[in-house]
Amino acid sequence: MRDVLEQIRERATEEIKKAGGMEELNQVRVKFLGKKGDLTQVLRGMGQLSPEERPVVGQLANRVRDHIESRLDLRREELCRAERNARLAAEVLDVTLPGKPVIMGRNHPLTQVVNQIKEIFTGMGYTIAEGPEIELDYYNFEALNLPKDHPARDMQDSFYITDEMLLRTHTSPVQVRTMEKMVPELPIRIICPGKVYRRDDDATHSPMFHQVEGLLVDERVTLADLKGTLLAFARQMFGEDRQIRLRPSYFPFTEPSAEVDISCIMCGGTGCRVCGGSGWLEILGCGMVHPRVLENVGYDPQKVSGFAFGMGVERITMLKYGIDDLRLLFENDVRFLSQF
Ligand code: DAH
Repeated sequence: MRDVLEQIRERATEEIKKAGGMEELNQVRVKFLGKKGDLTQVLRGMGQLSPEERPVVGQLANRVRDHIESRLDLRREELCRAERNARLAAEVLDVTLPGKPVIMGRNHPLTQVVNQIKEIFTGMGYTIAEGPEIELDYYNFEALNLPKDHPARDMQDSFYITDEMLLRTHTSPVQVRTMEKMVPELPIRIICPGKVYRRDDDATHSPMFHQVEGLLVDERVTLADLKGTLLAFARQMFGEDRQIRLRPSYFPFTEPSAEVDISCIMCGGTGCRVCGGSGWLEILGCGMVHPRVLENVGYDPQKVSGFAFGMGVERITMLKYGIDDLRLLFENDVRFLSQF
């Protein structure tokens, strides 16, 4: 009997060791410990043993069963771990593989230039003001010293909504709106970026375009202040070696008025194709705020003076980046836009 048990122990141990999978291991368990298993058979036969032998063999049989059970447990754990490792190895993910690139968007060149203009002027103490794109004739023209029958209205072909309302043709009405709100306080120092509209459409004109208006009102503001401000702007925008010049011009809302040129960014002033041989490039209009405009909003032109300027953002952008057709800025072709 003892030999039989010892043999069962050895065979079971061996077969458990050899079992290569859960299924196989389970068969081994049934073979030795199942209802008709080898060890079970031995226990059943215990009845034939003498009363002295029974407890001894019984004890031994229990130990053999415990041994087999613990070996089964160990092997089960081993197989489990091996199976898990095999699965992990099969499902391995290379996290170092490069991902699909996400194409980053960027600001439109016009937005970039507006942002840069804002930065330059806020750096000089200006704040940002805004006004409506659908504007009253009064603010767009009349308060700016452009009465209804004024011939200078022809300079700006307008989209009228009613006789008294139109799409603003420039950002200058924001000057008036701001002064109305501020009077009698001083100083006023604002720039106003925004969309404006005119009945124009060709390689250098678009029915919608962008301007940035500037206005400074205080006591004893002079043309020299205007020129110094614009020189500082031109140098930050187009390079430290820029020169500017003021050419006499006419705007109804400024007196005197001027057009501002910068020394050509291509040739530096010697004359080339970009500047048409003149050495200069026009960038904006400006002047000293007309006394009648100050009066219209309630400032006393005897005590208060100011300067104003207005620039086209498309024009500044085209000069800065050497873009030769305005329409490129509105076609939204990524091959063009991704260059900025
Ligand atoms: N509003 C003018 C235009 O659109 C530009 C301009 C000129 C604005 C002179 C000004 C200025 O503030 O002083 O043509």
